[in-house]
Amino acid sequence: MARIVLKNLRKSFGSVDVIKGVDLAIEDGEFTVFVGPSGCGKSTLLRMIAGLEDISSGSLEIDGTVVNEVQPKDRGVAMVFQTYAIFPHMTVRENVAFGLTIAKTPKAEKEAKVAEAARILQMEHLLDRRPSQLSGGQRQRVAIGRAIVRDPKVFLFDEPLSNLDAALRMNMRMEIGKLHQQLSATMIYVTHDQVEAMTLADKIVVLKDGQVMQIGTPMELYHEPVNIFVAGFLGAPSMNFLTVDVGEVSGDSATVRAGALEPIAVPTRGRDIRAGGTATLGVRPQYLGPVDAGQTGMLHGKVDLTERLGSETVVEMTLRDGAKLIAAFAEDRIFTPGQGVDLNFDPARAHLFAEAPPDPTAH
Ligand SMILES: Nc1ncnc2c1ncn2[C@@H]1O[C@H](COP(=O)(O)OP(=O)(O)OP(=O)(O)O)[C@@H](O)[C@H]1O
Ligand SMILES: [Mg+2]
Repeated sequence: MARIVLKNLRKSFGSVDVIKGVDLAIEDGEFTVFVGPSGCGKSTLLRMIAGLEDISSGSLEIDGTVVNEVQPKDRGVAMVFQTYAIFPHMTVRENVAFGLTIAKTPKAEKEAKVAEAARILQMEHLLDRRPSQLSGGQRQRVAIGRAIVRDPKVFLFDEPLSNLDAALRMNMRMEIGKLHQQLSATMIYVTHDQVEAMTLADKIVVLKDGQVMQIGTPMELYHEPVNIFVAGFLGAPSMNFLTVDVGEVSGDSATVRAGALEPIAVPTRGRDIRAGGTATLGVRPQYLGPVDAGQTGMLHGKVDLTERLGSETVVEMTLRDGAKLIAAFAEDRIFTPGQGVDLNFDPARAHLFAEAPPDPTAH
């Protein structure tokens, strides 16, 4: 069992700062997910915890001991990579046992641990096969098995499912969730898939350019994002962002409007929203609802494209002032391209940011 504390952790490759001061506490048994766009430093941060990457400055503690200089094998961590790194010439049994064989673990103990890992991962029937006789998901299970037999205090996963197809990904995602429930070990999981982050995590750490944007439970981040980056990163389709003019600001509420938006009062959530200026209004697609034909709503637009998914209808719209918007309705709806549609939403569920909206062409 392990509690992990990062204090002002930094990493530079030459003159390039990649991790720019990360403070984080991961509780014993917690499932923590590092999420963020490609190149933001997720793998580097995980590798620093594993001991595979030097720490430039700051401290890394596992169970109250600073381990900056401790060898990877002595940290009590086991890492599972995106590429499974299993040996093609060995059987599944030999692959899973590999670390124990190297450590000269007694035969009976080794066999018992391999059997236990195989039971947990439901791959007893695969133990005598070679990797070439396995599916992608089964290979990844072998790699996880190899980590389990080492009985680590901390499991580190670096995008372990990104080589799998969509159906298998979902299946393995659930298996990893179950594994965490069974082992109740501390786990850190890197992904840029926000669905994996939302579904697996006790705690999500959103990273951008080597810095922490926000730390919280999935629902805290979903409902109370601290900035536009976090708001846009979690949730699918992404939150809509509209530039609005700010009218009166009083107490915890601001009146905003735009060319296609009737004046509405939106909570400011303590943000620095100034009367007479502009701000960005964020509304999740799922919170938008169509108004009955002939009625007027808060937002005025017309339909560009409809995607009927069965359980949900995703509608791309252009608003009267030219802004683009995506709405997701919880029922099957049919719209024709060009059809005028008004929308309503609960202003209490909207977010107001002082920042400018993100550049849709930037990535
Ligand atoms: N050995 C290295 N030397 C120099 N720069 C590096 C090195 N390793 C990583 N970087 C840089 O550090 C930054 C963070 O890389 P990292 O691999 O941690 O990103 P990531 O968030 O895991 O991205 P991805 O989602 O693509 O895996 C990137 O800009 C990368 O180019
Ligand atoms: Mg990476």
